[in-house]
Amino acid sequence: MTDPASIRVSVLGAGVMGSGIAQVTAIAGYPTVCYDIDAAALAAGREHVQTGRFGVAGAVERGKLTREEADAALARLTFTDTFEAAAAVDVVIEAVPEKLDLKIKVFRDLDRLAPAHTILASNTSGFPIQAIAAATDRPGLVVGWHWASPAPVMKLAEIVRTSVTADATIATITDMATRCGKHPVVVNDTASSWGFVANRVYFAMIREAQRVVEEGIATRDQVDQLMTDCFRWPAGPFGMVRGAGSGWS
Ligand SMILES: NC(=O)c1ccc[n+]([C@@H]2O[C@H](COP(=O)([O-])OP(=O)(O)OC[C@H]3O[C@@H](n4cnc5c(N)ncnc54)[C@H](O)[C@@H]3O)[C@@H](O)[C@H]2O)c1
Repeated sequence: MTDPASIRVSVLGAGVMGSGIAQVTAIAGYPTVCYDIDAAALAAGREHVQTGRFGVAGAVERGKLTREEADAALARLTFTDTFEAAAAVDVVIEAVPEKLDLKIKVFRDLDRLAPAHTILASNTSGFPIQAIAAATDRPGLVVGWHWASPAPVMKLAEIVRTSVTADATIATITDMATRCGKHPVVVNDTASSWGFVANRVYFAMIREAQRVVEEGIATRDQVDQLMTDCFRWPAGPFGMVRGAGSGWS
């Protein structure tokens, strides 16, 4: 495994996912810069990392991190509104809103400014990675790295490879995901549908839950109660949708 101190990471977007991802990579030892276009989002992201429900202060209180480890992680993590600083790294993890045109623009800009060796990973929930990679002149260095919310807690690392993603790109990202304490699983890109494995299966369940409610069989709360009691899920389908949007705060 490569020494994390030698891999500079940036996370684009300091929202629900980006701030949590940046926290995780910093704790894992990667010098990390978190970028956002919105000053309020940057301030909120910093607060989430420091004192949020899944932030480092709570991790120290729960005995998951020592005070020294938390301080070292915070020293490794900076927040910026300068795109050039976010591009000048070895691995970028993009976590801007789920809009394909926005992601394509961000990847085009990154491709222009980032060093030629820089890996560009997207935390898209389901857009084809090949559509994002096509915006760049480095498709072999573009990969999906799908995290789950809350990023500091959930083990998901759905690594999405296109037909041209380089083996070395996959090796670097799976190594990083493992160092971040996640369980990397490499899957193939989707050609036309939205979602890879986790979200396709999850949204099939959500659609069925909505049909049950529309048919008057049960209320949303009843569906949630039944599914948590039946399968020991931490939340029912409707609770999961609410939690994902709010970062479970
Ligand atoms: N919320 C979840 O549970 C979840 C889980 C897995 C993946 N995702 C994916 O992660 C991505 C981000 O989702 P989120 O829930 O964190 O969204 P969010 O709205 O909480 O955060 C997005 C952030 O991106 C910032 N932003 C907008 N345009 C930008 C730009 N051009 N450059 C940099 N930052 C910009 C916004 O100011 C905002 O702070 C989406 O693709 C989403 O589908 C979300």
